[in-house]
Amino acid sequence: MNTLEHIAIIMDGNGRWAKQRNLPRTMGHKKGVEKVREIAIYANELGLKCLTLYAFSTENWKRPEQEVNYLMSLPKVFFSSYLKELMANNIRVTMIGDLKRIPEEARKIFTDAIEKTSGNTGMILNFALNYGGRDEIIRACQKYAQDYKDGITSNLDEETFKNYLMTSDLPEVDLMIRTSNEIRISNFLLYQLAYSEMMFVETFWPDFSCQDLDKCIAEYQMRKRNFGAVK
Ligand code: IPE
Ligand code: IPE
Ligand code: MG
Repeated sequence: MNTLEHIAIIMDGNGRWAKQRNLPRTMGHKKGVEKVREIAIYANELGLKCLTLYAFSTENWKRPEQEVNYLMSLPKVFFSSYLKELMANNIRVTMIGDLKRIPEEARKIFTDAIEKTSGNTGMILNFALNYGGRDEIIRACQKYAQDYKDGITSNLDEETFKNYLMTSDLPEVDLMIRTSNEIRISNFLLYQLAYSEMMFVETFWPDFSCQDLDKCIAEYQMRKRNFGAVK
């Protein structure tokens, strides 16, 4: 059995799911939020240590203002509906990305959810929000350079660099899933995905089910992970 502690998902295809139904793109995002709840609760039940979900990229600001505004209203929708349930399931909420650019209301809701769930010992539900892998690496370099100047750190190696990434407290990503049949990682966890298993599924995120997750995990368990060695 391959160890499976951390699954990271690029939740893609909300817009196309809506288009297929002649609905506005925002309705796809609305449905997508319900999926986040369903998959998070299920992944926690499976005993997963960490589930990272790509919710908004540093490039998603390029979308029409109305869509961006709608996306920024979703943390409120999500946490006002489901925070209680997350608490009851012992799930801890964390986030990676730059919160500074997030509108104040959404930012507050997020920090509140992170704080309230900080003592929970179940699965970590980690949202990548205003997150970009390149942005993360550059920030890590800047912070390291400052610490070096200040004499706080000396030699840079992988072990040290890891601590400068936003994922420093999280386990390695074992499995990366992208929905909606796009075969790319866009700007997701560029550093962390070394040696992660990748899965690209056709299902649009709003249609992605617990059974689909089961299938991904079953396929993951069939994979032979070498990490560069001969096994
Ligand atoms: C993913 O769905 C959600 C976000 C990027 C916020 P999309 O909105 O990218 O859906 P498609 O790719 O246009 O179908
Ligand atoms: C990736 O999806 C980002 C999120 C799921 C938040 P996009 O739909 O933004 O990615 P591209 O533009 O198709 O690569
Ligand atoms: Mg997309």
